[in-house]
Amino acid sequence: MCGIVGFTGKQEAAPLLLDGLKKLEYRGYDSAGVAVVGQNGIQMIKTSGMIQNLCEKTQNGSLLQGFAGIGHTRWATHGAPTDVNAHPHMSNDGKFAIVHNGIIENFALLREELKQKGFVFLSETDTEVIVHLLTLYYHGDFKEAMMKTVARLEGSYAIGAVCADCPDRIFAARQFSPLILGVGIGENYFASDVTALVSHTKNVIYLEDGELAELTPGDIYLYSSTGKPIHREPTRILWDMEAAEKGGYEHFMLKEIMEQPRALKATIEPRIQNNRVVLEELEIAEETLKSVNRILITACGSAYYAGQAGKYVLEALTHIPVTTELASELRYSNPIVDEHTLLIVLSQSGETADTISALKEVKARGAKVLAIVNVVGSTIAKLADSVIYTWAGPEIAVATTKGYTTQVSVLYLFAVYCAQILQTATPQELDQMIQQILLIPQMIQRAIDLNPQIPYLAKRYHHNQSLFFIGRNVDYAVAMEGSLKLKEISYLHSEAYAAGELKHGTIALIDKDRLVVALACQEQLFDKMMSNIKEVKARGAKVLGVVPEDMRQILAEADDVLFVPKLSPMFGVPAEIVPLQLFAYYVAKENGCSIDKPRNLAKSVTVE
Ligand code: AGP
Repeated sequence: MCGIVGFTGKQEAAPLLLDGLKKLEYRGYDSAGVAVVGQNGIQMIKTSGMIQNLCEKTQNGSLLQGFAGIGHTRWATHGAPTDVNAHPHMSNDGKFAIVHNGIIENFALLREELKQKGFVFLSETDTEVIVHLLTLYYHGDFKEAMMKTVARLEGSYAIGAVCADCPDRIFAARQFSPLILGVGIGENYFASDVTALVSHTKNVIYLEDGELAELTPGDIYLYSSTGKPIHREPTRILWDMEAAEKGGYEHFMLKEIMEQPRALKATIEPRIQNNRVVLEELEIAEETLKSVNRILITACGSAYYAGQAGKYVLEALTHIPVTTELASELRYSNPIVDEHTLLIVLSQSGETADTISALKEVKARGAKVLAIVNVVGSTIAKLADSVIYTWAGPEIAVATTKGYTTQVSVLYLFAVYCAQILQTATPQELDQMIQQILLIPQMIQRAIDLNPQIPYLAKRYHHNQSLFFIGRNVDYAVAMEGSLKLKEISYLHSEAYAAGELKHGTIALIDKDRLVVALACQEQLFDKMMSNIKEVKARGAKVLGVVPEDMRQILAEADDVLFVPKLSPMFGVPAEIVPLQLFAYYVAKENGCSIDKPRNLAKSVTVE
């Protein structure tokens, strides 16, 4: 996810573009740039790093003269976050510059075609094909060139473009990536979301998929994909700036919980082609995978719990022993590994110091390293032999939600990929598993929709000072993440415990009204869990059950229930954790906690 902005009016464009980019920085912050068109043609400055770097490099925009321009803050997808890969991208002749948010799926073919035609590519990005297509189709008519260009693109895009021959106008086009036009007085704007517009104007026009917009200081012209003029009345924005940044949600954490269906869709779908898992980015050869006799997963915090959840599927589908180790422990444990060990490293930020140290320690002993990270070009991504990115987009809240669920889904994809390579599953089994993985985004949405009662449950239980999360098998791994979510944002003490282990001592802590969250989503273990629920109920506990929506018999025992959609036994974790994410969120809200920035915590723990 990236952020793009555009402006045309009677003021110097560069300072306004920088201001807009600052408002969009949460959408992506690994590189940024601006291009302004004036009497001297197009001037462009771009840089890796945060927007602040760009402000310094452009002397707060004063180095660029012109009343129309475009800007971009990047969340790298294709090509590491370097100066060259930063947007805008300029045509070889300097006549066009463009910015883009999205992924051009057919960029490789277009790149080849354009290279054959003599165009010189400077970056590794998919985006650059757009600016060369504009040059190819430009014969004096900017609008016509834009229409012919977008007609060649497959995938998702929100594009902004400027042309040196038209110093007062900017063009915008959208397909599956958001783009909103800001209607000013004597000036007009576009941006990836209202965040960047609302301080200038509250009158906006939402561009729809397939549409094109031409903006001049005094007018906005909308066109359909066939060039037919469209009229659309502006919408009045009722949000304030602060709310707009969170897409209307009160906290980033709630926004990120709710955008998990999109994040999982973006992570899963590009990697499934013809009903098989395709990992184009995997740089570990099939032969190497076939020689692996041990898989070791390491991470910290929620990433470690994602590894715990994924371990079950990985072991079941590869028939290779899988162990998980906390990175802060692994690095000092003198691990016995060799060239037949595959180390899988999980990290949202890709900068966690303990995880980096563990990775280096194990790699030095000969293991192959696969990283599953969210931040493109991060330290862990660079240190690994191969990296599979989670396309969750920037995660702002300190408590991870979409980072965790996308990590688990990538472990699922990798496990099925290994089953394809190692032939440890029949074609029918592979078909069925892939269909279940494709359903995960819908399952997450249903897990959200099934539990409107969570705010009320939070009111009922938010005063509990110490509670338990219990489960068996993969539910025990989910219990660990559910417990951590609650602890880190509501400051209530909780403990995840293997349900079958309680009776060996810890059940002594169960007393009247002690809250026990019992996860019973593994059908083959449901009766065992019901016994555990009865055990704690007999000692006065309150039980909040977490069960598939068809296991209504839980209602006879539990005091309250969180329902999850009927899950596939192997791929249910991303949906199962969602009600617990929401429970933690609403309990923390009841307790008046600082949800997005909890006390004592940091989004990325870059110290040991
Ligand atoms: C998760 O909610 C916490 N913020 C924390 O446990 C986090 O998962 C851990 O620090 C690992 O971070 P990483 O995924 O960026 O490596």
